[in-house]
Amino acid sequence: MFVSPRRVRKCQFLQIFATCFILCVMIFWGPFDNRFVSHMKSYSYRYLINSYNFVNESLSISRDNVDRVASYQYLMNHREKCQKQDVLLLLFVKSSPENRHRRDAIRQTWGNEKYVRSKLNANIKTLFALGQPTDHLRQRDLYLEDQKYSDLIQQDFLDTFHNLTTKLLLQFSWVNAYCPHARFIMSADDDIFIHMPNLVAYLQSLARMGVQDLWIGRVHRGSPPVRDKTSKYYVPYEMYQWPSYPDYTAGAAYVISSDVAAKVYEASLTLNTSLYIDDVFMGLCANKMGIVPQYHAFFSGEGKAPYHPCIYNRMMTSHGHVDDLHYLWKQATDPKVKKLSSGLWSRIYCRIVNIMLLCKLYYENTYPCSAAFS
Ligand SMILES: *[C@@H]1O[C@H](CO)[C@@H](O)[C@H](O)[C@H]1NC(C)=O
Ligand SMILES: *[C@@H]1O[C@H](CO)[C@@H](O)[C@H](O)[C@H]1NC(C)=O
Ligand SMILES: *[C@@H]1O[C@H](CO)[C@@H](O)[C@H](O)[C@H]1NC(C)=O
Repeated sequence: MFVSPRRVRKCQFLQIFATCFILCVMIFWGPFDNRFVSHMKSYSYRYLINSYNFVNESLSISRDNVDRVASYQYLMNHREKCQKQDVLLLLFVKSSPENRHRRDAIRQTWGNEKYVRSKLNANIKTLFALGQPTDHLRQRDLYLEDQKYSDLIQQDFLDTFHNLTTKLLLQFSWVNAYCPHARFIMSADDDIFIHMPNLVAYLQSLARMGVQDLWIGRVHRGSPPVRDKTSKYYVPYEMYQWPSYPDYTAGAAYVISSDVAAKVYEASLTLNTSLYIDDVFMGLCANKMGIVPQYHAFFSGEGKAPYHPCIYNRMMTSHGHVDDLHYLWKQATDPKVKKLSSGLWSRIYCRIVNIMLLCKLYYENTYPCSAAFS
């Protein structure tokens, strides 16, 4: 591509300016290390420099350490789950051993493969990714649960918050080994609601177009590492030195295409996995491979969707649902609710309702206002 000398100089000027700006911010605001400043720093870093070359250089590990992923053994596995069939969506739900009631609710609602096959005419596979519980009785219960449902994938690492990246590696290595041909892969928390009819319709349309390079969800842009030692998400400087993470999608729920899964898996083998925040780690892997996440307005991050039929007709995922899963699933599969948004007047009505629900003057953690206009 032709680039004029003037343009190059302009770019260089911008870069110098950006570097000075960030240096100034760091020097003058460094001592006031509060949330606001760290967000300012990370935003400037993300928007002005936006270069994460260090992911390749500083966070890569030597080849000798590469076999460590294989070091965890499967306690439960279902290698045959995907074999010899066309799979539209492989759905990995990150669950904890004690969350049996959540898994049961998911099996009966949005994770129900049979419903999706018969009513939505799509082949999905739902699996639960687990580590090991601390006590033996619970492990025995898990074996019994798996005998009944055959949907638990478990390795022998302790199921703790700080082992979440290990759980991510479990998902990607499983996909790579046993289900590389699934069109799309989704990773989700066990307290999420997925509007399967909407998601399946959306993925089917993407599959027809032969979409590749897809990584979609609620994107975090320019998030700063948390340096507050009391926080659950605390990340020390030794682990990550830079003021901002590369872009990544909230781990609550995101979808990738199979080519992205393969690339992320490849990158995960060469990166230092000590960073235990799994969605950030996924962002580092993707960044190393040059994959960029895309924003979808109706994927939620931490937030919950407002309860309204006009929202249900558009929603993909909503976070923080355990007890109301059955209620939401009823709404999602009720033809009456769907009918509400067909026809011109209903569409106008729903647009107004959605603007009222999503475009509030005060901040509410839900879908963005732009979702009402999309
Ligand atoms: C990352 O670094 C390795 C060598 O350490 C190099 O072979 C590779 O091309 C680099 N990848 C990118 C995307 O820069
Ligand atoms: C992760 O799992 C390993 C293997 O079970 C265990 O030794 C380690 O303590 C766990 N790490 C954390 C931070 O819980
Ligand atoms: C990974 O990073 C940690 C610091 O967070 C470091 O202590 C460790 O040695 C690194 N591991 C490898 C294999 O480079």
